[in-house]
Amino acid sequence: TRIVDAEILRGQGGETHQVAGGGVHVLTTQQGVPVADDQNTLRVGPRGPSLLEDFHFREKIFHFDHERIPERVVHARGFGAHGFFETTESLSDITQADLFQRKGEKTPVFVRFSTVAGNKGSPDLARDVRGFAVKFYTKEGNWDLVGNNIPVFFIQDAIKFPDMVHAAKQEPDRGFPQAQTAHDNFWDFVSLTPESTHMLLWIMSDRTIPRSFRFMEGFGVHTFRLVNAEGKASFVKFHWKPKLGLQSIVWNEALKINGADPDFHRRDLWDSIQAGDFPEWELGLQLFDEDFADRFDFDVLDATKIIPEELVPVRRVGRLVLDRTVDNFFAETEQVAFCTQNVVPGIDFTNDPLLQGRNFSYLDTQLKRLGSPNFTHIPINAPKSPVAHFQQDGHMAMRNPGGRANYEPNSWGPTHGGPRESRERGYRSYPAVEQGEKRRIRPELFADHYSQARQFYLSQTPVEQTHIKNAFVFELSKVETPAIRARVVSHLLNVDDGLARMVAEGLGLAPLPEPAPAARPVLGNLPP
Ligand code: HEM
Repeated sequence: TRIVDAEILRGQGGETHQVAGGGVHVLTTQQGVPVADDQNTLRVGPRGPSLLEDFHFREKIFHFDHERIPERVVHARGFGAHGFFETTESLSDITQADLFQRKGEKTPVFVRFSTVAGNKGSPDLARDVRGFAVKFYTKEGNWDLVGNNIPVFFIQDAIKFPDMVHAAKQEPDRGFPQAQTAHDNFWDFVSLTPESTHMLLWIMSDRTIPRSFRFMEGFGVHTFRLVNAEGKASFVKFHWKPKLGLQSIVWNEALKINGADPDFHRRDLWDSIQAGDFPEWELGLQLFDEDFADRFDFDVLDATKIIPEELVPVRRVGRLVLDRTVDNFFAETEQVAFCTQNVVPGIDFTNDPLLQGRNFSYLDTQLKRLGSPNFTHIPINAPKSPVAHFQQDGHMAMRNPGGRANYEPNSWGPTHGGPRESRERGYRSYPAVEQGEKRRIRPELFADHYSQARQFYLSQTPVEQTHIKNAFVFELSKVETPAIRARVVSHLLNVDDGLARMVAEGLGLAPLPEPAPAARPVLGNLPP
């Protein structure tokens, strides 16, 4: 970079031009050409026409015109930070994942917290699920644990995700409401989809308005697999436990804060890291095997269910510390691309039909959002471990295979032939035994939509139960269609009679509707 002496020039109209010098870089175009005047377009005479020849002006406007990329189709509003994960207990008997082998091992991470439904500029304290996405830059590639702050989900099968998200976001004719559960489409969909009931109880609870990201739990939600070096697999549920404990904000305070400071959560994270008060979480695992899983009266592949912690305690195996804010919000927080299919040797999927759909969706949407199959070349997405393959070219390719070989097998030997597979270190999928008819079907054990919703409600303190009741009444009072309100209450009657009656009373709903059929046939099981 060329640096020249400092100077302040006065224009003919008395205006000040700040020019380079005293350690200030010379302003350049994208082509690196030094710029003499960034205040005035090139024109003929002081009042004459501007010239097409003004390459500096045209480049500047062209680039500005293309600054926007699509926001995420969900989780558009988010805030990220860097940090590390420290393994506090070796898990070498359970998984061959490199990051879990050595006690004390530190793995760099990038974490992005988010809301789900609101657009990029929506307020932080909306009643919504929070995303808790962690990218571990391990020595054997990137592992993304793309979780939420609620351990269950609205739907059991990814094929319903577009419907669920459409119903939760703005209504298509009017383009509102923004980032709110208080509207007919949302309650229409969830009341017609009884598998949402458990999630609804969490959504109406204090969990959906965290005091800050630092006081929030996180969950991988799905049942995953950990696989050890001998090929033995364990089922696992992932948990993040905040060191500061769990705290929330009550609804009427949240409304005021949203008005006064819609950036409340992001500001809190930024301020605490800048002040050296680094937020911290423990990673917990619930580990169990196939025989144990078979004894539950629900299916561990059903993302609307939790594994009770009384039955499978959470084992703390590491800590996550966020100690560095980003240098550039767009380059890092906006361009980071998490994906559930980013796993490393020793971590594997299960057949959870929601997880299987996610594995397709993230990569697909990121091609659209980031615009090139080479988005792993962007520093925030690039692994910090060696990368060597024969994929090449495409928009914005920053690293192509070197030398002659861009295919394998080839005859060009160890020095010129490029990388090769490794039987020992390469990723091997767990060889689960599968069989069955090819059908569109849901397992019978996915059918109980109310028991865990009831357990969640009963596990709450009286104050928390009151907040849940108030939230149902407030949100449903914004629903204009009486039949939808009644349908929600018909589900609540299967959760807790007292809750259902209080919500009905709060809404002035009389008489009470019939309870929804509790043992409903599993949706979608067409005859073979
Ligand atoms: C984004 C979590 C279900 C599609 C996200 C993000 C999180 C998340 C945390 C934000 C990532 C970031 O900060 O950049 C979850 C959880 C789910 C779930 C915990 C259920 C257990 C689904 C399903 C689908 C889906 C079923 C589709 C079939 C997407 C898409 C994005 C996204 C398309 C935007 C990604 C991007 O543009 O980079 N999800 N999600 N999610 N999710 Fe999910």
